[in-house]
Amino acid sequence: MGGNLITVGLQWGDEGKGKIIDVLSEQYDAVVRFQGGANAGHTVHVGDEKFVLHLIPSGILHPGKQCIIANGVVVDPECLAGEIEGLKARGIDVEGRLWVGDRCHVVMPHHKLFDELREAEKGGPDIQTTQRGIGPCYADKAARDGIRFGELIDPVIFRRRLKHVLKARNLVLTRIYDADPIDFDSVYERYSRLGGTLGPFVTDTVGMLHGFSREGRSLLLEGAQGSMLDINFGTYPYVTSSNVCAGGATVGTGLPPSSLGQVLGIAKAYCSRVGGGPFPTEQDNETGELLRERGNEYGSTTGRPRRCGWLDAVALRHAVQINGAGTLALMLLDVLSGLGEIKVCTRYRLEGREIADFPGDTGVLENVEPVYETFRGWSDDLTGAERFEQLPAAAVDYINAVEKITGVPVKMISVGPKRKQLIVRGG
Ligand code: GDP
Ligand code: IMO
Ligand code: MG
Repeated sequence: MGGNLITVGLQWGDEGKGKIIDVLSEQYDAVVRFQGGANAGHTVHVGDEKFVLHLIPSGILHPGKQCIIANGVVVDPECLAGEIEGLKARGIDVEGRLWVGDRCHVVMPHHKLFDELREAEKGGPDIQTTQRGIGPCYADKAARDGIRFGELIDPVIFRRRLKHVLKARNLVLTRIYDADPIDFDSVYERYSRLGGTLGPFVTDTVGMLHGFSREGRSLLLEGAQGSMLDINFGTYPYVTSSNVCAGGATVGTGLPPSSLGQVLGIAKAYCSRVGGGPFPTEQDNETGELLRERGNEYGSTTGRPRRCGWLDAVALRHAVQINGAGTLALMLLDVLSGLGEIKVCTRYRLEGREIADFPGDTGVLENVEPVYETFRGWSDDLTGAERFEQLPAAAVDYINAVEKITGVPVKMISVGPKRKQLIVRGG
């Protein structure tokens, strides 16, 4: 494709980003994660093998590609060390090509504990987080109470920072939650050991990425989660705690907006959402069950069943706009085969009024009624289609409708989880 490319999920996550990034990695020199953490679960199928990546960029399965976890990501060192070991055990070499930013915030045991305690609180929004400590870690980052990787790998500085942070957190744990305090010695021992193990991977990724840019090396930026989970533009408060949208790529890497031109939006041919929060096109019925079973819609990170429903073009247009998506990858189109008719929500209705723009107020979103356009279905199995011309007419009509409704060309069409099950138009 030339130049750099930002890839982002346009819905509620799990759009198939891992697959697209794996396929596109071939054409880029480095793959860069810029936000989120181990709440992500990106699935990549290589031959008969399946990999689920949480922190390591999905380019890692291509030998020789550089993989960078940039400063906007919150990194659980235990999870990262486990992922590195898991890849090594499967013959994937990460030495000398996996890097973690020294400015990345460390997800600590207290973050995971507070994630759990907060979810158990009554009266707040029922977000149903992944319990990976993401919200509390980003909250500490903003409150200037976080610990960064550059500090974790220095035992003296880490000791001082951890002493300070745990003192404050233990007061909250014991006095507010009536819970046991976290033991400094055991956390210090465990995490300074992890700091030692991960030390060789930690570097100034800002300098590294600018160096790559100067050398003319191309970067593929790997978004995690989806735009509707973005802390600013998603269905707040039922969101994650990071800047999921394309703008997050600049603050999450230290690369200027001017160097990150093109954006590829990744969307399912329908919608899924895992966790709580409004989902206007949800089909809590047989159609939803069919989509879940056919699409194998169970969380890659938590195994939770995903809520499924029709494509929501109001939300999709909002996501396209915010991300500046210039092309789309339409994923899991094969899952729709066999449905008599397929619906797309093009507008919402609220108290007799029609709304074409995505409402900022989640309270409004909870009460809207979707207005659908109905398309004819197809019965053909799409999983063997290799060229656009092989798709049935009804599937082509559906793709054309998605383009018309969003105003963005569908450049890639995915018809199965494997690398080869991808139709690239004009490519
Ligand atoms: P990500 O978080 O966006 O990387 O997506 P996940 O990996 O969490 O979930 C997407 C799921 O769909 C994975 O199980 C993929 O293997 C699978 N998948 C990706 N593309 C396709 C496709 O075109 N068709 C089907 N049937 N499955 C797909
Ligand atoms: P990928 O990268 C789908 C959801 C959680 C919850 C909300 C907040 O695989 O697409 P958090 O743990 O982030 O505080 O949870 O966000 N969520 C995801 N849903 N895919 C993801 O990542 C997600 N990451 C977080 O289910 O509703
Ligand atoms: Mg996922």
